[in-house]
Amino acid sequence: MGNLKALFIALVSNIALANSVARANFYADTFFNWGYQNTAIWGDGDNLALILNNVSGSGIQTRKQYLFGSIEMQIKLVEGNSAGTVTTYYLSSTGEKHDEIDFEFLGNLSGKPYMIHTNVYAQGVGNREQQFYPWFDPTSDFHNYTIHWNPSQIVWFIDSIPIRVFKNHENIGIPYPNQQAMQAYSSIWNADNWATQGGLVKIDWSNAPFIARYRKLKLRACEWKGQNSIYKCASSTPNNWWTSSEYSQLSYAQMGQMEWVRNNYMVYDYCKDTKRFNGDFPPECYQQPN
Ligand SMILES: *[C@@H]1O[C@H](CO)[C@@H](O)[C@H](O)[C@H]1NC(C)=O
Ligand SMILES: *[C@@H]1O[C@H](CO)[C@@H](O)[C@H](O)[C@H]1NC(C)=O
Ligand SMILES: *[C@@H]1O[C@H](CO)[C@@H](O)[C@H](O)[C@H]1NC(C)=O
Repeated sequence: MGNLKALFIALVSNIALANSVARANFYADTFFNWGYQNTAIWGDGDNLALILNNVSGSGIQTRKQYLFGSIEMQIKLVEGNSAGTVTTYYLSSTGEKHDEIDFEFLGNLSGKPYMIHTNVYAQGVGNREQQFYPWFDPTSDFHNYTIHWNPSQIVWFIDSIPIRVFKNHENIGIPYPNQQAMQAYSSIWNADNWATQGGLVKIDWSNAPFIARYRKLKLRACEWKGQNSIYKCASSTPNNWWTSSEYSQLSYAQMGQMEWVRNNYMVYDYCKDTKRFNGDFPPECYQQPN
C-alpha cells in the first residue's frame, strides 16, 4: 500500500511536471549548454538562476533559431560584490562569419556601478562596442532587457528605453545581420582578467556563489525553418509585427529618451574613440544615430 501510494504520488507529480514543461518558457524553449549543475529553473519554467562558483559558470540557449524579432528577458544581476563576473544576454548565429547582438553586464565592487556593454557583429566582424552605466540599481530588482531586431534596425531597450540603435546601412556597404538565424543565449562566467576596471579587480570567491536571476523570457520572433525564412521573416506581416513600418525607426519620444541615456550614462562609444580609429571611423559612425 505504501509503495502504491508512493507510485501514485510519483505519477501525479510527473503529470504536473509534464504540464509545467508544456507551459514553461525556460523548460520548453531553452536548454543548458554549460554548467548544468550550476543552474535552476522553477515556477513552472518562468524563473531561471544561473550560478557562478569556483567550479564553473553556467549558460543556456534557446532550442530554436530565429530571424528577427523582439527578444525579451527580465534579469536581476548579481548582488553585492560582483567584481570580475560577467553576465550575458545575447543573440548569435553559429559558424565562422557569425552575426551577434550583445548585452553584457560587467560586475563591480559593492556600491560601484555595473557596466552595460553592447556590441554587434555582422558576418564575423564586431568592434562596435558601446558601454553604459545603468540609471538604476540592476541588482535590486528585475529589469526588462529587450533586443528588437528587424530588417531596418536593431534596438537595445532597457525597460522600454532605447539605449542604442544599429541601423541597416547596407546601402553604403556596411554588413547587416539579416541572412543568418540566431539563437538567444545567456550565461554567467569568470572574466576577472578583463571585466572590472580593466581586469584590476579580481573575483572575491568568498562571495560565491554569484547568482544571476532571470524571468519572463519572451521569444516573440520569426522562427527559422531554412533558407525560405529569409524572405518570410523579412516580410512585414501581422505575425512579424516587430518588422512593421512603425518599428523601422524610433519615434520622436524614443529618440529623446535615447538622447537622455546617451548624454548622461554612456561611458564608451567606439564612434568617439579617436585613439583607436585614428580619426578614421567605421562608416556607420558618420550616419545619424537613430
Ligand atoms: C571552492 O569553494 C568551496 C565552497 O566555498 C570550498 O570549500 C573549496 O575549497 C573551494 N575550492 C577551491 C579550489 O578554491
Ligand atoms: C519590455 O520591453 C519591450 C521593448 O520596449 C516591450 O515591447 C515589452 O512590452 C516590455 N515588457 C514588459 C513586460 O513591459
Ligand atoms: C566599476 O567602478 C569603477 C569606479 O566607479 C568604474 O570606473 C568602472 O567603470 C566600474 N565598472 C567596471 C566594469 O569596471
